[in-house]
Amino acid sequence: MKTLTVIMSLSLILVLFFPSPSFSSAVRCNPKDKKVLLTIKTALGNPYHLASWDPKTDCCDWYCLECHRKTYRVIALTIFDGELSGQIPSAVGDLPYLKTLLFHKLPNFVGTIPQTVTKLTRLKSLEVSSTNISGPIPDFLSQLKNLRSLDLSFNKLTGSIPPSLSELPNLTNLRLDRNRLTGSIPDSFGNFKAKVPSLYLSHNQLTGYVPKSLGFKRFRNLDFSRNKLQGDISFLFGPGKGLWGADFSKNLFEFDLSKVVFPKYLRVLDLNHNKIYGSLPQGLASLNQLQFLNVSYNSLCGKIPVGGELQRFETTEYFNNKCLCGAPLLACK
Ligand SMILES: *[C@@H]1O[C@H](CO)[C@@H](O)[C@H](O)[C@H]1NC(C)=O
Ligand SMILES: *[C@@H]1O[C@H](CO)[C@@H](O)[C@H](O)[C@H]1NC(C)=O
Ligand SMILES: *[C@@H]1O[C@H](CO)[C@@H](O)[C@H](O)[C@H]1NC(C)=O
Repeated sequence: MKTLTVIMSLSLILVLFFPSPSFSSAVRCNPKDKKVLLTIKTALGNPYHLASWDPKTDCCDWYCLECHRKTYRVIALTIFDGELSGQIPSAVGDLPYLKTLLFHKLPNFVGTIPQTVTKLTRLKSLEVSSTNISGPIPDFLSQLKNLRSLDLSFNKLTGSIPPSLSELPNLTNLRLDRNRLTGSIPDSFGNFKAKVPSLYLSHNQLTGYVPKSLGFKRFRNLDFSRNKLQGDISFLFGPGKGLWGADFSKNLFEFDLSKVVFPKYLRVLDLNHNKIYGSLPQGLASLNQLQFLNVSYNSLCGKIPVGGELQRFETTEYFNNKCLCGAPLLACK
């Protein structure tokens, strides 16, 4: 018993006076990741924004990134709101454990998305938004099989939408809005594997008809507003669809609204500035979740159905039609 106590106190003294180096300076950051991060910093011109990326410190403490809680590999790189200029460094492809990669609000960012991102096989979310990157949307993005969200909104992207994006098996959120995209919506977009994906294509220069294939797929949100799309899109509605948000405003859509049955949980329906005719279907009055409606600037006629939220909306949500009448507009004659 005595000897044991002696040994224990001896080891306590040893620990107190000769602490092992791994105790005092546990470096968590993976040296390979650190090297890549420093390459990225150099490629961006050693900006003040990344001043915390000091080679003498643990990279898991650096600004704009996140390490895994156990492995300490870099899993997220999120650079935003900066005066940084240049291009997306191709070295980002050498952070093999990245799940999230984001470049947001970087007006001086130009160039294109580097092909090296295809090495990021674990990537779940890729966002390059509100930058000045340009050129076409690369086809190679369809190799990122783990992507759940791809957001390339508010850039200067041109060319047509690559049909291959629908091959991404887990993609639930696709934002290509506010670019300069041309051509039509790919036929393949009716084939998304995810259950109810959301698709944002607004503020582009898309033309042509919306492919019929999209009518066989359930979508959560569809935003095609401010394009030059045409034709009948009534097939995008229907009772069994999971649609919550539908913004088709400011296009050239032309169809009879009278017989359209809207999905039960529809929250937003914006059809303003099209060439839609017929009357507002009675079913609109039984949409309990409807929070926003705008059917102004079309060729609609007849009495606004009474009930639900329909009389609570403003007149501007109905005005400038051929002959819509009844509350909140003037009484029918
Ligand atoms: C792109 O650059 C122009 C001028 O160079 C700037 O005015 C604009 O805000 C930038 N765009 C974005 C989305 O940051
Ligand atoms: C898609 O997601 C499911 C469920 O999260 C996962 O099991 C599957 O491996 C993913 N598929 C791919 C190709 O990443
Ligand atoms: C409905 O759309 C029209 C046309 O864009 C617009 O003038 C009006 O303000 C909108 N109403 C509401 C409440 O958003």
